[in-house]
Amino acid sequence: MDEPRILPLLRERRSVREYDETHELGSADLASLLEAARWAPSAGNSQPWAFLVGRRGDAAHEAFVPLLAPSVRRWAPAASALVFTLHQVASGPEEDALVYSDYAAYDLGQAVAQLCVQAGALGLSCHQFAAFDHDGLAGVAGVPAHWSVTTGIAVGRGIVSDLAPRTRRPLAEIAYGARFGEPVL
Ligand SMILES: Cc1cc2nc3c(=O)[nH]c(=O)nc-3n(C[C@H](O)[C@H](O)[C@H](O)COP(=O)(O)O)c2cc1C
Repeated sequence: MDEPRILPLLRERRSVREYDETHELGSADLASLLEAARWAPSAGNSQPWAFLVGRRGDAAHEAFVPLLAPSVRRWAPAASALVFTLHQVASGPEEDALVYSDYAAYDLGQAVAQLCVQAGALGLSCHQFAAFDHDGLAGVAGVPAHWSVTTGIAVGRGIVSDLAPRTRRPLAEIAYGARFGEPVL
């Protein structure tokens, strides 16, 4: 079978490790990224996500960079912004608190996917990462206990150079019909 057709944005997306250090993420583009995340579906419309944003050169970015693991600190600070993602792990204490949903992590992932596709549409690249000091970030940013710091995303104008080809498991190994393990296609 020929390679199935998908949106070029999805086919061409890369987790780059090199960013244009002269590019700045303006407020209009930042708002577009966050707005794309905001419109993601979620269980019971619980919207159990939140984001912390530092743009290169601002105080938040300065506070976030030391929390990156050395492997990520090699490339992520050059991106125009560091966005950290949070999902709710319990109901909050507020009167009008969101009801906790078991699907909160799933919903956050979907919101991040929308953010990253929007970034691609704006000519920007996202590289998500888990290698940072989650507790340190919760402390620095004053994250309430019912929120879990989850991932980081380096966002900026990516430079695609010397990247190994992307690989994925074939469809036959992930998509089944009536019985698990039996390919649907
Ligand atoms: C939840 C999550 C955590 C990740 N953590 C890291 C990380 O700590 N360091 C890193 O270099 N890349 C990290 N990545 C990027 C993946 O390695 C990358 O998405 C994967 O190798 C596929 O490459 P592609 O995004 O270019 O298709 C992470 C991605 C996700 C979704």
